[in-house]
Amino acid sequence: MTNPLAPSWLEEPSDLNELVTKVWPRHARRRDTGEFEIGGVSAGELAASFGTPLYVIDEDDFRARATSARKVLRDAAQKIGTDAKVYYASKAFLSTEIVEWIDQLGLNIDVASGGELAAALAGGIDPARIGLHGNNKSLREIGRAVTAGVGAIVIDSEIEIERIAAAAGAQDVIQNVRLRVNSGVHANTHDFLATAREDQKFGIPLAEAAALVAKIRSHKHLRFLGFHQHVGSQIFAVEGHLESTRRLLRLHAELLADGEIPELNIGGGFGVNYKPADNAPDIQYFAEAIMDCVQAECAELGIAVPLLAFEPGRYIAGPAGITLYNVGTIKEVNVTEGAHPAVRKYVSVDGGMSDNARPSLYEAEYHTVLASRSSSAAPALSRVVGKHCESGDIVVRHDYLPADIAPNDLLAVATTGAYCYSLSSNYNFLTRPPVVAVRDGKARIVIQGQSEADLFTKDVRYQQLKSAAGDKE
Ligand SMILES: Cc1ncc(COP(=O)(O)O)c(C=O)c1O
Repeated sequence: MTNPLAPSWLEEPSDLNELVTKVWPRHARRRDTGEFEIGGVSAGELAASFGTPLYVIDEDDFRARATSARKVLRDAAQKIGTDAKVYYASKAFLSTEIVEWIDQLGLNIDVASGGELAAALAGGIDPARIGLHGNNKSLREIGRAVTAGVGAIVIDSEIEIERIAAAAGAQDVIQNVRLRVNSGVHANTHDFLATAREDQKFGIPLAEAAALVAKIRSHKHLRFLGFHQHVGSQIFAVEGHLESTRRLLRLHAELLADGEIPELNIGGGFGVNYKPADNAPDIQYFAEAIMDCVQAECAELGIAVPLLAFEPGRYIAGPAGITLYNVGTIKEVNVTEGAHPAVRKYVSVDGGMSDNARPSLYEAEYHTVLASRSSSAAPALSRVVGKHCESGDIVVRHDYLPADIAPNDLLAVATTGAYCYSLSSNYNFLTRPPVVAVRDGKARIVIQGQSEADLFTKDVRYQQLKSAAGDKE
């Protein structure tokens, strides 16, 4: 009998050692010895060299996903007589090395804060290929973006028009801007991830957008590039994108009477597989459906197809990354579910919500396998939990692991390349794990892990005590 605690979507796997292709990075496989490897480096070697928890990026997979996102969206756009600017949404995962990859691969980059802007600039990408977002950009952030010469700033509220115009005026430059519109479309995703519905903080209501475009156009230091939307994240069905795009194009067409509108930014949000039961469509599906919609709508409105922009983040980074953890303690918890007593195995690992906040933030589900060896033990319904003082500190809520899972085994958790490192924290004074990139049998540190001393660098008394102790020596 299946465990009554298992959700209906979770199938008991016939082979617990199998790496289901659709959730693992392209260069993940199980060795003949049973060990999990990624980019030609085994889980054991990675853990021995860098410790656990450890974020691991399959560099070639990340690069291939970025390249293909750009190519698929551009090819589809070219088929309808336009082109696409593809921005990597850097909030998914950012370091200066990632900026270098994105730069080399010909993508643009979008940033959502002064810090992300600093990383993009430090990474060496041409500022003209940076887009700046944010619903509350500080004057400093705006000034820095204008001074650096970023390619576009996305205006998110009326007050920003004057702020950006003033910064551009002070530099005597013309700043390209987009206007983020909340089209009222609610894309099919978790509530906290859905950004284009009326009752939320992002963008300008559709009904107010025309007046704000007139205001933007009245400033000689601003150039209106076009509207921007982002209907949500981790989206599997394209209808939300299509409906929102139609709404924006109707307004776009109306406002062409008073000046050029060269572009339309359709945002990101393309979903990925987190677990074997997921069936995320490929980006090709989104690209074709969106282009068909844009072409048909523009034909009906009698307007030229604008240049399109997209901002995939998770699609590029998510599936290319995994996290390795070491198992510490294991408990079998008896849970009475209806008439049937059931057992769930709680497998505690050496990280948790500080390195992956998504399960506690969004009830996100993940998939895991035993990585240090294979096993022929029976499947046991398991919950992988972290070491934080929170009962919501869950890494993998529902999955099967071999019943002989034991302390010091390594677990690999799939699809942690996006919104894991970038959402990580020092909760409970846990140090942030390192990030390594693997490729052709070699592992390289991209971001160093924090040491315990790093946790105290901003603690004033700690530093005073340390320097007093140093003086005495
Ligand atoms: C404005 C904007 N663009 C792009 C993205 C990237 O979304 P995703 O990583 O789901 O593609 C986000 C994510 O929140 C966003 O807010």
